[in-house]
Amino acid sequence: MVMTLWDSHCNMTQDTEAIVGSFHFVCILTFTVGSMIQFSDELEPAIDYSNRNLTHIPKDLPPRTKALNLSQNSILELQMSDVSFLLELRALRLSHNRMQSLDFGVFKFNRYLEYLDVSHNQLRNISCCPLVSLKHLDLSFNDFDVLPVYKEFGNLKQLRFLGLSATRFRQLDLLPVAHLHLNYILLDLVGYHVKDNETESLQILNTNALHLVFHQNSLFSVQVNISVNTLGYLQLSNIKLDDGNCERLITFLLELTRGPTLLNLTLHHLETTWKCLVQLFQFLWPRTVEYLNIYNLTIVKSIEYEDFIYSRTVLKALTIEHVSSQVFIFSKEALYSVFAEMNIRMLTISDSPFIHMLCPPFPSTFMFLNFTQNVFTDSVFQGCSTLKRLETLILQKNGLKNLFKVGLMTEHMSSLETLDVSLNSLNSYAYEGTCIWAESILVLNMSSNVLTDSVFRCLPPKVKVLDLHNNRIMSIPKDITHLQALQVLNVAFNSLTDLPGCGAFSSLSVLVIEHNLVSHPSADFFQSCQKIRSITAGNNPFQCTCELREFAKSIGQVSGEVVEDWPVSYRCDTPENTKGTLLRDFHLSPLSCDTVLLMVTIGATLLAFTAIMTFLCFYFDLPWYLRMLCQWTRTRHRARNIPIEELQRNLQFHAFVSYSEHDSAWVKNELLPNLEKDGIQVCLHERNFVPGKSIVENIIHFIEKSYKSIFVLSPHFIQSEWCHYELYFAHHNLFHEGSDNLILILLEPISQNNIPSRYHKLQALMAQRTYLEWPTEKSKHGLFWANLKASFTMAKLTLVKDEDVKT
Ligand SMILES: *[C@@H]1O[C@H](CO)[C@@H](O)[C@H](O)[C@H]1NC(C)=O
Repeated sequence: MVMTLWDSHCNMTQDTEAIVGSFHFVCILTFTVGSMIQFSDELEPAIDYSNRNLTHIPKDLPPRTKALNLSQNSILELQMSDVSFLLELRALRLSHNRMQSLDFGVFKFNRYLEYLDVSHNQLRNISCCPLVSLKHLDLSFNDFDVLPVYKEFGNLKQLRFLGLSATRFRQLDLLPVAHLHLNYILLDLVGYHVKDNETESLQILNTNALHLVFHQNSLFSVQVNISVNTLGYLQLSNIKLDDGNCERLITFLLELTRGPTLLNLTLHHLETTWKCLVQLFQFLWPRTVEYLNIYNLTIVKSIEYEDFIYSRTVLKALTIEHVSSQVFIFSKEALYSVFAEMNIRMLTISDSPFIHMLCPPFPSTFMFLNFTQNVFTDSVFQGCSTLKRLETLILQKNGLKNLFKVGLMTEHMSSLETLDVSLNSLNSYAYEGTCIWAESILVLNMSSNVLTDSVFRCLPPKVKVLDLHNNRIMSIPKDITHLQALQVLNVAFNSLTDLPGCGAFSSLSVLVIEHNLVSHPSADFFQSCQKIRSITAGNNPFQCTCELREFAKSIGQVSGEVVEDWPVSYRCDTPENTKGTLLRDFHLSPLSCDTVLLMVTIGATLLAFTAIMTFLCFYFDLPWYLRMLCQWTRTRHRARNIPIEELQRNLQFHAFVSYSEHDSAWVKNELLPNLEKDGIQVCLHERNFVPGKSIVENIIHFIEKSYKSIFVLSPHFIQSEWCHYELYFAHHNLFHEGSDNLILILLEPISQNNIPSRYHKLQALMAQRTYLEWPTEKSKHGLFWANLKASFTMAKLTLVKDEDVKT
């Protein structure tokens, strides 16, 4: 808010800001702007009531207001009661209102008021007396008849800026302020008029800068002798000249430029004929002015050859900005040669319709040429060998197209250090042969053109600063000539996909490569570029995959001082799930990125698994458990599907057990107790066989009366008992293969070889591996019994009583 309050003031003195290099001006600027800024912070709270159609000063102003902007309203008058309570008021802007009179007495209580702007009102008179605290008092653009400067103005010891307006002058009007140390007097002469044959005079005794504003639309006709003692800076605004009144301006200036101190002359809104402009230059050439600025120049009528005598001059710089011409057919040479032959150091012509500039016909004094924003073509300065002292050439925003011609242009500019050809249409296509550049070029700005990769084959060999941002570069060719001096490279806003290594740029210390297409930059950049002090690589579409890991790590390590805009501008773009993630926070496990590591890990895991399995097999007999488990599930499954007729068989026993005498100890001590414990009725062939019947008959009988048949297999059993069953099996289908009724218990291991070859049935059963193995370890016995009993649990059988058996 505070800043806007001061804006209009800045606009008024903005013309002065353009003057570069004037020592005096710098002083003024530092004073006016500097002091404003200094207390602008303190000016809070600032109130902005500008442009609100107010006719009166609002009553509800906060009493602590320090800055008050009431400009652009329709306020008619100011009374003491309006402002008397604003005890801390320091700045008041009332410009562009409709006040006709002002009594300074109203500010009696505003003891700190320093800045008062009542310009652009209709003031005809003021009453005494302004406050002694004022530093800035602007009364310009009002309807005063004579300069409103009273004796009491002499008390304004702090006053630095004074704006006034008058329609006529009296010589000593400004005497009251003659002893003050004014920096800036703004004198509005818009309403100034005197009769044609009269000449008035005005003495301005003491100011650094004087700004006179004339009427916008009338021809310059002011006849006043303004004499100044010490003037450093003079600005004239709104000057309209034709060949007739050209002399009048020159006479007017004669007095003003007489002093030895005037260094800076600025003309604003100058409309003139070419002839008069040249006359003006000719007049100023031998004066003390060092900096001549013309802003908004309009050339009218015609442009013809004018003689110009380039006498010795102290003029250092001529700046002409914003030129328009109402002359369309003219000899270009007549126009351009006047400028080209100037014996000064700095020339700026910008924003003009000029299409060319001539090569000076003799060795030129130009050291600085600025031709920004004209319509120059490639032909400018071709073959020109007289610009030997030129150090800086700016051709920004013109119509240059051919890079090689631009290079060629500099061929004889042996002092050229800085060349700015940015914002043209330079391309590097049409080229064969070698490229020529002035070897002295250190700074080359070719930003905002349409250059492609091949530009790197055509660069000044000793360039230190190279700006190529906003072009069409996709890659930096590998085989380019080395630019060993290159320190600063800006390739932002191109289409590069990788960071350039420093192979070809061994001195590179600043790299700007933001807004390109760098997706997975090589990690060895920081190794290759040891001298890098600053890298700006943000806003690239980083691809956050394994390839980027190393780079992210190394850029993260150096981030502190070297990486600009870190970390906010460095974000993943792909893959989708990482989009927007800061590179700083991007981590991938080493495993997912290193194939060798991955293979080793998988191998190791497999190995460990195998080892564990082997260990389990050998130590805990895992296969045995598995087999048992398998049996168990099979049994459960079968038990569920016992056919009805099976259950309805006329049974006497749950199990018939057959075994060898040799194993009877195990049967009696282990098997029987364990089965009978659960109420399973067991028939032992020893115990229950009916004497007199043949063994086979007994076997058949009991097997048929039992729900299951258990065979305790051991080598002995095979030797002694199996023969009976083999025969039986051969003739009965009751125990067909896979039958549910058969339970084989393998008490001791039997190798296939030990089974006699005639026992086909046994071989078949063993091959099926449907037996239960008796484990030697005690810990496994539980599972064994459980498995065995599972065959019985499902069947709730009603057995026929013993008596029935007997019968
Ligand atoms: C090059 O010119 C552009 C504009 O034309 C400007 O923004 C940039 O700062 C210049 N670069 C250098 C290194 O001066």
